[in-house]
Amino acid sequence: MKVQALILFATLAVAVAQEFLQEEENRDAKEDAEWQKFKSRFKRRFKNKDRERMRKNTFVKHHRAIKKHNQAGESTYKLLPNQFADWSEAELEQLKGEIDTNNEIPGPVVSTDILRQSIPDELDLRKSKCMPKVKYQGKFKFLPFCGCGSCYTFAATTPIEYQRCLKTGNLVTLSEENLIDCSQKYGNAGCNGGLALRSWNYVKDAGINTEEVYPYQGEETLCEHSSSNFGGNVTSWAYATRSNNEEAIKAVVATYGPVAISIDANDWDFYSEGVFSSPKCSNTSTNHAVVIVGYGKDTKSRKDYWIVRNSWGAEWGQGGYIYIERGVNMCAVSKRAVFPTASF
Ligand SMILES: *[C@@H]1O[C@H](CO)[C@@H](O)[C@H](O)[C@H]1NC(C)=O
Ligand SMILES: *[C@@H]1O[C@H](CO)[C@@H](O)[C@H](O)[C@H]1NC(C)=O
Repeated sequence: MKVQALILFATLAVAVAQEFLQEEENRDAKEDAEWQKFKSRFKRRFKNKDRERMRKNTFVKHHRAIKKHNQAGESTYKLLPNQFADWSEAELEQLKGEIDTNNEIPGPVVSTDILRQSIPDELDLRKSKCMPKVKYQGKFKFLPFCGCGSCYTFAATTPIEYQRCLKTGNLVTLSEENLIDCSQKYGNAGCNGGLALRSWNYVKDAGINTEEVYPYQGEETLCEHSSSNFGGNVTSWAYATRSNNEEAIKAVVATYGPVAISIDANDWDFYSEGVFSSPKCSNTSTNHAVVIVGYGKDTKSRKDYWIVRNSWGAEWGQGGYIYIERGVNMCAVSKRAVFPTASF
């Protein structure tokens, strides 16, 4: 009897182990297929097997986390293995580049009178002919894994481009490279980060060139600002709020247009759709600069959201944009909300 029981037990154990191995093999085969799909979609080519193995491991790690998030089905947003799915943590960090500073940078705050104005309940400046196409802060075309921590320059140009177009009727895009190469004296650090408001301090003194004459390179080079090419000037800038008042930001967006903000972007590299809302997001420390271009309410999740413009290309998120929960200081969205007054 005892021997029989033992044999039965052993057989069972083997069956369980086999099933387990089978499952793992199936998963490996599935992940392998996903990797092949990803490689062909994003045109990845590798010098050798080792390099590919390294990238594949990173991809698989991200892919599993993405799947887990989506399958849990508890959150109001979905993730996707996008073009950054085989980037390492360090490379993903390079795609951000705001210098977080807890020092209060002095500056005027818009008058709270702005709260008394009547503004629309929903607003989407993406629909405006004055909203430029979403840009890309890395060097994806040339070197697939190379970011430049220049987010702050894109956050700085959008509000000026928009205001210039409203005033003149022409949409002329401005030079982020000009800011990367020339605004070091104002506290920025080229591809190693900076702040939109420091870029405006530079523009206030020097003006900014157009993107056409000073095109993007995604790396810091010698300053080639030309005083004969005038893309715009900033006469002043101000905070939309210093007390995390998101109603004030809403009023500024409706009155002046795009508002540059600092944000914690640690958890949205693979954002795909829905309203981003996560308990993991910090409400005090930030590492990325982006731009608020509208607001609304999601009927599905019943959450209020901001429409936020990123600088990771139009393939990312919702055509280059992300919806972020509004009204709860999600990801420190109201920490440093600033806007310029531009002149032309
Ligand atoms: C930009 O505006 C400021 C303030 O009005 C002015 O002092 C400065 O000369 C202007 N700069 C350029 C390049 O137009
Ligand atoms: C951050 O969140 C905590 C916990 O919910 C809250 O007590 C605190 O006031 C928040 N701080 C800011 C600046 O939003």
